[in-house]
Amino acid sequence: MISRSTIDQVYETARVEEVIGDFVVLKKSGSNFKGLSPFSQERTPSFMVSPVKQIWKDFSSGKGGNVVAFLMEHEHFSYPEAIRFLAKRYNIEIEETEQTQEEKEKANAKESLYLVSQFAQESFEKDLWEFSEGMAIGLSYFRERGFTDETIRFFGLGYAAEKRDHFYQKATQAGYSEEFLVGTGLVIKNERGAVDRFRGRVIFPIRSMAGRVQGFGGRILSATAKTAKYLNSPESEIYHKSQVLYGIYESKKAIAREDVCYLVEGYTDVIQLFQKGIENVVSSSGTALTSEQIRLIRRLTSNVVVLFDGDAAGLRAAIRGIDLILEQGMNVKICSFPEGEDPDSFAKSHTEQEINSYLKSEAKDFIEFKTDLLLKEANHDPVKKAATVREIVQSISKIPDPIQQEIYIKQCATSMEVSEAVLFNALAQEQNKKQKPVRKIANVSSEKGELIHKAPEQQVSSNPLLYLEKQIVSILIQYGNHEASFEEIIVSSDADGNLIEESKTIHSKVYEKVFLDLQQDEVEFIQPEFRLLYDQLIHSYQMEGDLKLDKIIQQDDSSLGKIISDILLAEEIHQLHDWEKKNIFVKQRESVVGQLVSETILTFRRYLIDEKIQSLLQESKNSEATENSSEFLEDVMQYQGLKKLLSKKLNRVL
Ligand code: CTP
Ligand code: MN
Repeated sequence: MISRSTIDQVYETARVEEVIGDFVVLKKSGSNFKGLSPFSQERTPSFMVSPVKQIWKDFSSGKGGNVVAFLMEHEHFSYPEAIRFLAKRYNIEIEETEQTQEEKEKANAKESLYLVSQFAQESFEKDLWEFSEGMAIGLSYFRERGFTDETIRFFGLGYAAEKRDHFYQKATQAGYSEEFLVGTGLVIKNERGAVDRFRGRVIFPIRSMAGRVQGFGGRILSATAKTAKYLNSPESEIYHKSQVLYGIYESKKAIAREDVCYLVEGYTDVIQLFQKGIENVVSSSGTALTSEQIRLIRRLTSNVVVLFDGDAAGLRAAIRGIDLILEQGMNVKICSFPEGEDPDSFAKSHTEQEINSYLKSEAKDFIEFKTDLLLKEANHDPVKKAATVREIVQSISKIPDPIQQEIYIKQCATSMEVSEAVLFNALAQEQNKKQKPVRKIANVSSEKGELIHKAPEQQVSSNPLLYLEKQIVSILIQYGNHEASFEEIIVSSDADGNLIEESKTIHSKVYEKVFLDLQQDEVEFIQPEFRLLYDQLIHSYQMEGDLKLDKIIQQDDSSLGKIISDILLAEEIHQLHDWEKKNIFVKQRESVVGQLVSETILTFRRYLIDEKIQSLLQESKNSEATENSSEFLEDVMQYQGLKKLLSKKLNRVL
């Protein structure tokens, strides 16, 4: 691991404008720099870099963050890769953290496995091009499949000789220890000695996103052989089948550039499409897609098109795995090929233009595709159709974006000839199954596991609380340390026990007011990033006495950096577009910051209370047991009183 002090030094030294300047032509514009967005094709610059704040923002794609986030976006580096890159750029020596003996050995062992794999890749490749058996059998096989020499070299394809310990001999002679040869699975030890795993097979090296060889797939050549057609590396410290995508290293730039990833089943599908000029393609190597693999793709794009072989048999099974992609908020399309064709054979017999237009015209939205397929299967049988509706709604419930859900529900209502209300209802049931716990509010246990039962329409429409959470966080960032005055209603009782309300003006720092008010309600934000950011902002004000934004921006989590830069630079987009009116609005806002804060917090609290009351009412309606009903009533009345008070305050503020 890279030590904390190295990371700090990197952040202290690296200048966002210098690093980005290596990739993008930047021009000075006021206190900022601007340039053409490297993430989209544009003619008027909407990409901004702030040297003062050490952040960047791309208004065309919405991306933004600190210098590390830029490298992760632009170069698709992982966090440590970005730090190492910067250290190199600024000649900073990388200090690794003190590792225990055990950690050191583990790291070394892992590194050794990588080195052995690298050696194996080179050795298989060499045998393909230079060894007589490899040339006669392996190279001619690839050429027959239509791969050009350039393609074969680009993918580092190879050949594993027939002889039982051909590779083992080469590797030990080159000084590689048996431990790691066995560790990578390249060599198998048995009572008869050491045997190569891959024998008489052509070899497909599998690389990580960063380009390191992790494992291999080997294809048998004779059609009559009794062993499996493909043999793959076994699981090891460096090869986890569920976490690799064949072709990700070769295709990552194209995936990001085209903003879509084609997902195929096999090694040869990837290679053939790539050779035809469709470079944004990866394969899950014949297994069901896992969420780790989807996360890899999501680093590059949120659009996936799954390409299926022509045979319909596997289609239905394959479709199941796709809900997983929806769950991660990705847009999924499906494209199937004519009977008997797979992407490999189709690509081989068509031009790039033909393939592209096929993909364009045949790729169907996943939900639509699934609906069509299942409806055809149900064939007007009402029982089957009901099951179909349920299955489709299940998929829709996996989509995190409520607006998108609503659109799909409306579409499906038409195509399935079912009323929207029925579908919304089914969706609400699905969502309740997921057991969303209600947010915590003072003195009310959430252990009861109450669910928010709302009318279905309401449930899918967008939630104002999400907006308010963002508003609160941006107030803290922009005005947290400002002194402001707030109107407070103090409730006390006089000598006769009558309640008296007194209005009082209180001066305090904005962050203190926000913190204390929200603490009263024991509020938790719904959105995890905003919750994290809120905690960090409050912590920073309380512990450091001021906002140390750079410290927060510097953490590994690039999504926080993005939120911060969004908020900070929201102001600057007005300058960029010379949007004076808005600018004036922003300034006015600042002058009435006290009112803004009160208004936001009160609105936020009132929404929470509303939600609470709704859920209590619903709960009492649903609950069979009457013994709790008076308790419920008390709770509801208490909250309603609170709501009244909040409304009163809000009216005063407005
Ligand atoms: N696969 C595997 N083990 C097998 C069969 C298949 O790992 N015994 C994986 C391979 O990654 C293969 C993918 O599943 O690329 C798809 O299988 P298949 O369609 O049978 O192979 P193709 O890629 O079409 O290979 P080829 O065209 O060479 O027959
Ligand atoms: Mn094939």
